[in-house]
Order: sequence, then structure tokens, then C-alpha cells
Amino acid sequence: MSTEKRLEARGSRLAAGLRPGACGPVQPDGSRRAAPGSRLRTRVWPALALLAVTALAGAGCRQDMHQAPRLDPLEQSDFHADQRASRPLVEGTVARGFLRDDKIFYTGKVGTALVADMPVPVSRELLVRGQERFDIYCSPCHGRTGDGNGMIVQRGLKQPPSFHVERLRAEADGYFFDVMTNGFGAMQDYSAQVAPADRWAITAYVRALQYSRRVEAARLSDEDRRTLEGQAGAPGAPHGGSSTHE
Ligand code: HEC
Repeated sequence: MSTEKRLEARGSRLAAGLRPGACGPVQPDGSRRAAPGSRLRTRVWPALALLAVTALAGAGCRQDMHQAPRLDPLEQSDFHADQRASRPLVEGTVARGFLRDDKIFYTGKVGTALVADMPVPVSRELLVRGQERFDIYCSPCHGRTGDGNGMIVQRGLKQPPSFHVERLRAEADGYFFDVMTNGFGAMQDYSAQVAPADRWAITAYVRALQYSRRVEAARLSDEDRRTLEGQAGAPGAPHGGSSTHE
């Protein structure tokens, strides 16, 4: 049976179900009023009749919702001129949660100029999140410390520049966001894997990595300075990512 026929059949079933008097007991003269009687009977009869009709209607004229006349998604329809049952979205429709009107947050730019500073406040939580995301999505190539010698590079991929070179230290915060959003040269973009908020978290963490190589010793806590001096003095001691050499 064609879709149209099916719909027609469903439609007439529905119509039959809705026609008054099509089901339930109907008086020979077509009325549902009770014969005249005592005052009490006059009052009770219509109520009883209504109850019976309702009960019978409920049992005999069920219109299941799963049989309702309807069009399935992407089905052909002759109702609309373009024959599409699924209607295109009204122009300008925005899915909930996708209103990206904060251009700086979603592009890292004002017009075409990259923003110098992060548009979100930098907190410890943001840095921790950034470190986690960086280690997952960037370190395979850029290495955990951003030197550009990750495992994939060691296995033959083009080596990216170290994040610690002067050129990248001088870049705007928006630049890192932009590279992640649109890719750069041989590097693919990470817009599908890393959400905008996380791209900013990673940007903050890359900044922290860069800063970690340039901290003046005087700005370290006594404890950190002692640890650092201890490491520098001990031959063969492991050098972490926060060592002072370039
Ligand atoms: C699969 C390897 C790979 C991954 C993963 C990767 N990158 Fe890259 N990245 C590269 C390569 C290769 C280049 C150099 C591209 C070129 O010069 O053609 C690069 C370049 C860069 C640059 C420097 C652009 C410049 O001006 O020289 C930045 C910044 C950068 N990546 C950030 C990131 C961040 C942040 C992540 C994590 C979200 C990431 N990359 C993930 C391979 C990768």
C-alpha cells in the first residue's frame, strides 16, 4: 500500500471514530434523551446514558496514538510544495547551547586581530584542566613540556617548533586558541575534539609551560628554590620540565 493510501485509510478510520453516533448506543430517532418519566428518572437517565456511551466509546472506538495519521521523518509528503515531510529549520534557528555570539570566546579574535589576553579568568582549576587536556591531545606530538619531541614526532611526523622559542613566547593568547581551532600547516585542527572552553584552558597551560622556563629565582618560594638548587647541584639528578635551562 502506498504511503498516501495508508494515510488515507488511517485518516478515514480516525474520521469514523470521531463522527458523532458512529459508535455507542443511539436511539432510533437519533437522540440520546431518555423517555419522559419521574423527576428523579429524568435526572438520572441522561447521566446513566452518558456513562454507558462513554464506556462503550472507550471500549469500541479506541484510536491508538501509534496509528495516528502522521508522516515519518524524511518521508515524502504532497502536503508541502517541496514534498519534504521534514521541514527545514527556520532561518536563524540556533540549537540550544549553540548561540555563539561571544566572538572573542569562540574565535580568539576581535575582527581579524588575535586577542592578546585570555577572555576567561585564569584559575588553578583552569590550569589543572588545561594540563590534563594538553597531555591528552597535544603531548603526543608537542611532548609533555612543549619541546616538540612527542612520541609521534619521534616516530617520524614533522617536528613542531618548541613552545619555548622566542617567536611563540611573544605570540598572543588568541594565537594558540586559533591554531587549535583552525589547525596550522601540517597540524590538523582540534576543534572537534577540544571544546572552546578547553582550548582556553590549554592556552593557559601552554603559557604556564612557557613561563616555567623563565621564572626568576627570586620569585620562587624558599622551598622551591632549595629543591631547584639541590637538583642543579646533584649530578645525574633528573631534570624536570621546570628546569631553568632553555
Ligand atoms: C599529531 C601531532 C600534533 C598534535 C596532536 C598537536 N600538534 Fe600542534 N603542531 C604539530 C605540527 C607538526 C606543527 C608544525 C606544523 C607546521 O609547521 O607545518 C604544530 C604546530 C603547532 C603550533 C605552532 C604554530 C607555529 O606558529 O609554528 C602550536 C601553537 C600548536 N601546534 C599547538 C598545539 C596544541 C595546543 C595542541 C593540542 C590541542 C596541538 N598542537 C596538537 C603537530 C601536532
